[in-house]
Amino acid sequence: MNHALDSIRNEHRSLSAVVHALRDLVARIRDGGQADFGQLRAMLYYLDAYSARLHHPQEDEFLLQPLRARGADDALIDDLEREHARMAAALRSLEQALLRFEAGGECEFVAFATAVEGFCEFYLRHMRREETLLLPLAERLFSDADWARLDGICAARSGPPEGAQEELELQQLYRRIVGAGRSEPDR
Ligand SMILES: [Fe+2]
Ligand SMILES: [Fe+2]
Repeated sequence: MNHALDSIRNEHRSLSAVVHALRDLVARIRDGGQADFGQLRAMLYYLDAYSARLHHPQEDEFLLQPLRARGADDALIDDLEREHARMAAALRSLEQALLRFEAGGECEFVAFATAVEGFCEFYLRHMRREETLLLPLAERLFSDADWARLDGICAARSGPPEGAQEELELQQLYRRIVGAGRSEPDR
């Protein structure tokens, strides 16, 4: 079993659950439901904080950069790095669209819903590409020593890591978004 890859797949499951919850919430508003702005803000905050502070920096440092150093397909690595940067920018504009919907009312909903759909498609496609292209590439190119190093990093994270409080807060937020009683998949 490869702990580092399992950890990334589990993080994708958490992110994916929140992306789907966001889509469902917007669909309910489209069907006439009351907009829960607190919940929408919480979802965008979670996607932003989890991606930008935990998930993407780890992928950049532990997969993309080492794979590049081992001669992996530059086009794929460049593309995924660019998508991480684009994701942060897309979240900023989604937050702006949410603000406009909250302050401007129903006339701003279509623009917000379109932005949400574009973002969700983009995020899910990004994770699919990582799972079908990047992770198999790492399995092919990384040596046993590389995996031992990555697994060591993952094991260290199950201790009291720096940022543990923030991670705990994000787990609580995840339960609030996806449903009480459900915890994030194990890492
Ligand atoms: Fe990524
Ligand atoms: Fe990812």
